Amino acid sequence: MIVRLSDGRSLPIEMYKVRIVQKTTLPPISQRLTAIEEAGYNTFLLWTKDIFIDMLTDSGTNAMSDNQLAAMMVSDDAYAGGESYRKLGCAVKDILGFDYYVPAHQGRAAEHLLAKIFCRPGTVVPMNYHFTTTKAHFEMGGARVLEIFHDDAMETTSDNPFKGNIDLDKLKEVIKRYGPENIPFVRLEATTNLIGGQPFSMANLRGVREMVAPHKIPVVLDGSLVSENAYFIKCREQGYQDTSIEDIVKEMMSLSDLVYLSGRKSTCVRGGLLATNNPEYFNELKAWLPVYEGFITYGGMSSKEIEAMAVGLREMVDLDVASSSADLIKDFVDKMVARGLPAVTPAGGLAGHVDAMKFLSHLPQEHYPAGALAAALFLVSGVRSMERGTISMDRDEQGNDVLSDLELCRMAVPRRVYTMSHIDYVVDRLGWLHDHRELVGGLEFYEEPPVLRFFTGKLKALDDWGTKLAAAFEADFGPHV
Ligand code: F0G
Repeated sequence: MIVRLSDGRSLPIEMYKVRIVQKTTLPPISQRLTAIEEAGYNTFLLWTKDIFIDMLTDSGTNAMSDNQLAAMMVSDDAYAGGESYRKLGCAVKDILGFDYYVPAHQGRAAEHLLAKIFCRPGTVVPMNYHFTTTKAHFEMGGARVLEIFHDDAMETTSDNPFKGNIDLDKLKEVIKRYGPENIPFVRLEATTNLIGGQPFSMANLRGVREMVAPHKIPVVLDGSLVSENAYFIKCREQGYQDTSIEDIVKEMMSLSDLVYLSGRKSTCVRGGLLATNNPEYFNELKAWLPVYEGFITYGGMSSKEIEAMAVGLREMVDLDVASSSADLIKDFVDKMVARGLPAVTPAGGLAGHVDAMKFLSHLPQEHYPAGALAAALFLVSGVRSMERGTISMDRDEQGNDVLSDLELCRMAVPRRVYTMSHIDYVVDRLGWLHDHRELVGGLEFYEEPPVLRFFTGKLKALDDWGTKLAAAFEADFGPHV
């Protein structure tokens, strides 16, 4: 929640009390240098013991509520017919308005099932923007991913409140060009992860729905951050200021044929979910579920997490939950902008982002500026962020790098985990890094898996810039921080 202070400033105040904590440590710069080198300059390969503030992701790292933990104590571990599944069903019906649902072990498992059911060679899936695992699964299913965002969505500095919108003219063109029979569904991601957590508007979702309905093309919503998208609709779209998050989410669902989500994000648990009112989709999902996930009443999830998901679904439409990271991210982005850093604007859901091509404008994209920036930030701060750029794209069939539309360094703000002093520290160290940016060089792969290489690939710093950057940092701050 944002409260106005007596001097007129806005304060994103925490609407929760902290009752369980996890101790953190700030390892010295020498330890961080060894750690990032051993990790192949890939922040995914760092260990918690070497990390001070973990902003890799909000996936599975949001703080859970007391009610979620309490619900876990009464879960039903029956292999089949478990009560926990029925409780989840009540929450799905109440919050999302869907009759049919299946759990899956996480969001990408839901994508795998979708690909299995809908994607075939020769088909195309239009969407506002891809997510890494989405693209991998749909392409493995034989479909092509078509991104049909408005051109200005790629402008990292913008005041467009809905950079996650689909361009309806492009959608019309795609339907004409490929034919409705080759479009198994249109996908909207709430909020578009890889372009800065940017939302779509309700008007856009409705526009998509109205355009595809006559062609019987279903609308599939990736609801991994659906309540944050709903919060942005409430704050930014005319006519929704007085509508509750719960009603906005319901309206979004009423315009969708199927929703899937990473429960690791939206419901603060470790799991995934698909829900629909279409019995045919449900029957097909149900058929594949035991092959890939588990029996329908647990779908690869622990029953404890299913209980917590049922509570998490209800809690995600609480305004204080839906706004908890979005408000802190706005504060983060405002502070980065005030410090002269090239932050992605407007602030989105999920994370604060910086445009690495602007931050490290001396590096060519082939040298992976976003990866270099994420590694450099860790080195000077102990803050673990994530590369969202060319490293996150796999090579094409000829083995060439596919240059990403954007090179972003993403600093995720999991719900109810970090405080404003953490944010101030991150902005300060980013500021120092910006003042010394010419010391940061590029990266090159020396170990590279063929699919989703960003997870486990290893790189080295060209010209050993890590050592030089660490020396400059130590000269300013001493060896202990
Ligand atoms: N869709 C979106 C929009 C996501 O952000 C993610 C995960 C997934 C699907 C896949 O879900 O991880 O539960 O399998 N995003 C994580 C992230 C990994 O860090 O942004 P999952």
